[in-house]
Formats: sequence, C-alpha cells, structure tokens
Amino acid sequence: MRLADKIALITGASSGMGRAAALTFAREGATVVVTDVEDADGTAVAEEIRAHGGQAEYRRLDVTDEASWTAAVTHVLDHHGRLDVLVNNAGISGTFDPDLTSTAFYDRLLQVNARGVFLGIKHGAAAMSGRGGGSIVNLTSIAASIGQIGVHLGYAASKGAIKAMTTTASVHYAGEGIRVNAVAPGLLPPMRTSRGSTDPVWRAKQVEGVPMGRTGEVQEVADVILFLASAESSYVTGVEIQVDGGYTAQ
Ligand SMILES: NC(=O)c1ccc[n+]([C@@H]2O[C@H](COP(=O)([O-])OP(=O)(O)OC[C@H]3O[C@@H](n4cnc5c(N)ncnc54)[C@H](O)[C@@H]3O)[C@@H](O)[C@H]2O)c1
Repeated sequence: MRLADKIALITGASSGMGRAAALTFAREGATVVVTDVEDADGTAVAEEIRAHGGQAEYRRLDVTDEASWTAAVTHVLDHHGRLDVLVNNAGISGTFDPDLTSTAFYDRLLQVNARGVFLGIKHGAAAMSGRGGGSIVNLTSIAASIGQIGVHLGYAASKGAIKAMTTTASVHYAGEGIRVNAVAPGLLPPMRTSRGSTDPVWRAKQVEGVPMGRTGEVQEVADVILFLASAESSYVTGVEIQVDGGYTAQ
C-alpha cells in the first residue's frame, strides 16, 4: 500500500496510461479522482475501481479550461481536505496529422498538452502548498528529446515545454515540499486520438528501432508514475524518466 490514505487526481484517466495509473494508485491505497472529458469511459474507470474495493470518483476536467481546474481542485479540497498527488497525463496525439505543418493543429497541441500541464501545475501546487506538499508527475514523451518521422512539430514542442516546466517547477516548489517529475513514454499502444500510428507497417518499423524489441505496456508506465508519486522517490525531483525500452539511449 504505497499510497495509503493519499488523495490523487489524474487527468486523462479514462483510457491508456491514465487509466492504468488510476487502477494502480487505487490498488496501492489512494483515493483516486479520475478526470477526463470522456465522461462515460471515466465513469467506468471509477466504477471499476470501486467494484474492486478501491476508492474513486469521476469528475469532468477539461485541462485547457482554467475554470474547470479551479472547480476540480476546490472539490478535492472540500471533500478530501488535501491533494497529495497530481498526474498531468491528459494529452492529444500529434502523430500523422494529415498536415504535419498545420498551424491550427500546432495551436491545439500547445493548448491541450502544454497549457493543460501549466494549469495543472499552477492549481495543483497551490492546493498542495501549506498542506504537507505533494508529488506532481507530468507525462512528456521521447518526442521531447529526439526526432521521429510523422510527428507534428507542435507535439514535440508541447512535450518539450512540459519537460522544461517540470525542471523549473521542481526548483520553484522544492521549498514547499512539492516534487515535480516527468515520465517520458516511448512506443506504447496508440493514443485515443492517434491516426496513422495505428498502422501495423509503421508500428512494426518503429518496434525495429527499440533496443528491447517490443512496444511498452501501459502498466510499465503506470509503475514508474507510481514510483514518482510515492515516498520511495522522496529525494527525487526535476527528473524525466524514460520508459522506452532503450529508445533514447541509442
Ligand atoms: N501512447 C503513446 O505512444 C505515448 C507515447 C509517449 C507519450 N504519450 C503521452 O502519454 C499520455 C497518455 O497517453 P495515452 O497513450 O494514455 O493516450 P490516450 O489517448 O489513451 O489518453 C489520453 C486521455 O486524455 C484525454 N484528453 C484529451 N484532451 C483532453 C482535455 N482537453 N482535457 C482532459 N482530458 C483530455 C483523452 O480523452 C484521453 O482519455 C499523453 O500525455 C501522451 O501524449 C503517449
């Protein structure tokens, strides 16, 4: 029970890695506030947790909307008294957009991926400050560090922005007992919003480039998020951990 009695909010938790983190956190004793914009799937995740004896609720939280953040964090503090862990996981894919130089899509990628995490850090840290501190875990990507064919520049820019905000926020909030770290997944199951990355030929070629020779599993990312969320990483802040089978080590 590595998160016993902890209160955790996870964005984009209705599918993929956010869902895996929510189930994992609940198994480790946390009360999980599952948030997303896909209400039916998010509600199902919270129900699944409760059906297994865990504690969870679903709340709609559009990470691009500051009023939505204010409402969610106020709800957490009113009902649970504090916020111990925030996972800024929500995001949209920048892979194989029909126009890889679309300006409108650049703006959307920065809006959801980067602004969403900025607002999360802002409101999450405000809730943690003065209440015992906490842990913020941001989802970046290998695209923050390396180039890949078929990835919109805006996706790389948004993930690079999250990586930079992670280091700056870690220093800014260290004195308040708030740790801020990042997890950078490599080749994982396609995102809900992916287009061509579901193509088996593209995926097979990508897997060839992974030293471990396989795609990662969402649980393998959730386990690293858990490490950064828990007291096992109590002296770790400002780092980005690659979960990529060695992709960026080459
Ligand atoms: N899947 C991969 O290959 C991969 C690789 C590297 C990094 N990542 C990153 O990991 C994170 C999780 O990805 P995933 O694979 O689980 O994707 P996913 O699409 O399964 O999950 C992302 C969730 O974010 C939600 N979301 C989208 N816009 C939102 C908004 N405005 N407000 C709130 N929620 C919103 C979606 O509804 C979805 O449930 C993302 O930040 C992604 O960029 C994914």
